Amino acid sequence: MPELFDEFEINGMVLTNRSVRSATWTGMATQNGRCTTRLTKLVERLARGDVGLIITGFAYVMPNGQALPKQLGIHDDAMIPDLLNLTKRVHAANGKIAMQIVHAGVQTVMRKEIDGPVWGPSVVHDKLFGITPRAMTQRQIKETVQAFARAAGRAKRAGFDAVQLHGAHGYLISQFLSPFRNKRTDNYGGRIENRARFLFETYRAVRKTVGRNFPVFIKLNTKDFVRGGLQERDTLFVAKKLYEMGIDAIEMSGGIPAAGNLSPARTRICKTSDEAYFLPLAKKIKEEIPVPLILVGGIRSLTTVSQILNTGAADLVSMARPLIREPGLIRRWKEGDRKKAKCISCNQCFATGNSPGGIYCVIERKARTKKKK
Ligand SMILES: Cc1cc2nc3c(=O)[nH]c(=O)nc-3n(C[C@H](O)[C@H](O)[C@H](O)COP(=O)(O)O)c2cc1C
Ligand code: SF4
Repeated sequence: MPELFDEFEINGMVLTNRSVRSATWTGMATQNGRCTTRLTKLVERLARGDVGLIITGFAYVMPNGQALPKQLGIHDDAMIPDLLNLTKRVHAANGKIAMQIVHAGVQTVMRKEIDGPVWGPSVVHDKLFGITPRAMTQRQIKETVQAFARAAGRAKRAGFDAVQLHGAHGYLISQFLSPFRNKRTDNYGGRIENRARFLFETYRAVRKTVGRNFPVFIKLNTKDFVRGGLQERDTLFVAKKLYEMGIDAIEMSGGIPAAGNLSPARTRICKTSDEAYFLPLAKKIKEEIPVPLILVGGIRSLTTVSQILNTGAADLVSMARPLIREPGLIRRWKEGDRKKAKCISCNQCFATGNSPGGIYCVIERKARTKKKK
């Protein structure tokens, strides 16, 4: 039976174990998207903490695709030298690192900084972000596809071991996939075959740029969990098609910010049964498609990790918040301290990404300050 500390290979990339740090925006890049020493040190710590595969926070492929302040950028060759240093450090610590690439579409807080109108598949007002995007022209769609491809090429040149398309959580690819935001009447809207066209073109362009032997992944929503959003059958179609097209792994997530309590990073994970909240839907995908599957969302204990891996529901387990609180969690488990992750899933760390030093765990910091007193 597969165990957490078994090796796993994906398209020639050998991971020392089956743990993944799911993409996490840290607010530690510079204002114009460069990787900093602070971010490099954090990622190095994760590698030293025995995380099998680290996925960077989402990196924007075009300046108008930026979602948040101090987000990593991969929109320009000028980003490469600092990223080369980052990947070198990870490799020196025996780790592996993938870059997640994104266009935010309407889900951006950078409205004032973005040059020109915010893009989206259709003119659908987003209440949460307070933005009505401009519907992308076919030319802008092609431009964005090429931007993803160039970004993936840069990531490869910067020494990353893989790239991951951000196809989840309501960002541009997910906006196209979802009838909640995609109301187009051309060949990019309507039935799922059309809504997925932007993603499939992006995947093909990325693959053409990086070649067959470079791992390309995607993070996908099982469902959007909003009325009129992406449904399971759509995801199944997309996942099957991507598998046939040669995608190397799929990370299953779910929800968009508008889904409230059912957003990607859910709170109130108290009991073991609250963990791995996308497991039932991910399992169905895995049963139908033999693609390496990464599961994210509320995984907190070794009991749950073993259940996921032993039943073959997924091949790899991915965590974000537990590794904000404890970057050394995987090593702690490996060394025999099997207590569950200390993260209480309160989501207070989200706002800290805007603090001068970037993200930190509010609970951990409070606990340390109390200890010192
Ligand atoms: C502070 C923070 C930043 C995040 N940034 C990203 C991101 O850049 N890309 C992404 O796909 N998901 C992002 N997520 C979502 C996580 O990757 C993950 O899907 C979610 O938190 C659920 O996993 P968890 O329960 O292990 O935290 C972020 C989550 C948090 C808490
Ligand atoms: S603030 Fe700390 S405990 Fe709360 S979700 Fe973030 S990492 Fe977990």
